[in-house]
Amino acid sequence: MARLGVNIDHVATIRQARGVMYPDPVTAAGIVELAGADGIVCHLREDRRHMQDRDLRILKEVIQTRLNLEMAATEEMVRVALATKPNVVTLVPEKREELTTEGGLDVIKFFPLIKKTIQRLHKGGIPVSLFVDPKKDQIKASEEVGAETIEIHTGRYCDAKTPIQEDEELKKILDAVAAASHYNLRIAAGHGLNYVNVWRIAEIKEIEELNIGHSIIARAVLVGLDRAVREMIALIKQTN
Ligand code: PXP
Repeated sequence: MARLGVNIDHVATIRQARGVMYPDPVTAAGIVELAGADGIVCHLREDRRHMQDRDLRILKEVIQTRLNLEMAATEEMVRVALATKPNVVTLVPEKREELTTEGGLDVIKFFPLIKKTIQRLHKGGIPVSLFVDPKKDQIKASEEVGAETIEIHTGRYCDAKTPIQEDEELKKILDAVAAASHYNLRIAAGHGLNYVNVWRIAEIKEIEELNIGHSIIARAVLVGLDRAVREMIALIKQTN
């Protein structure tokens, strides 16, 4: 069975929408761990739209499983990672205007920058995973550039509009898994996985870890809403 890393960015998204102190992603991380997840994932974006530096600092102190920091390969982020020492860094591409990470890292195009970034992180004792599209040339480059793990971008599989398209995207993922196994890379996968589409990816034995965020936080809002309303009604009732 693959390990589950839960991305808690969108707990912070709800907090930042109001600029208040709750819900705190640090509290969420504790609940996620108590529920049995194998790790916590968070993306510190350049624009700090959800997770904040303070969140990352405290998460590193309190997490008892593994902290996977997703970040762009920038000078600022390398410094943050070296100061925080997460258990693993996942390098992702980042554009300010995107809603979420849209595509995999272009390891071929940015080879020198990624190599240098990996070397600096390795010097600080931090293993590195590269978030890449399921393409053989990107996977070959990931091995050549010095990463120990790749995270296969499952977004296109998840966004498939027809069963045929879904099969085609799954085939690309299976080919990518075979390539990564050939290069002895460890394999994770993520992006867009939800309660309907996760099973075909979870079935792939070589994938050691699934990183899932939005669908879990979205479900938490709905499965927790009944209780949250009842608790507020009970509070109001107490006053009269
Ligand atoms: N893996 C990576 C590298 C990501 O960038 C993200 C999104 O932050 C995820 C996994 C989780 O994606 P989702 O929120 O769609 O489950």
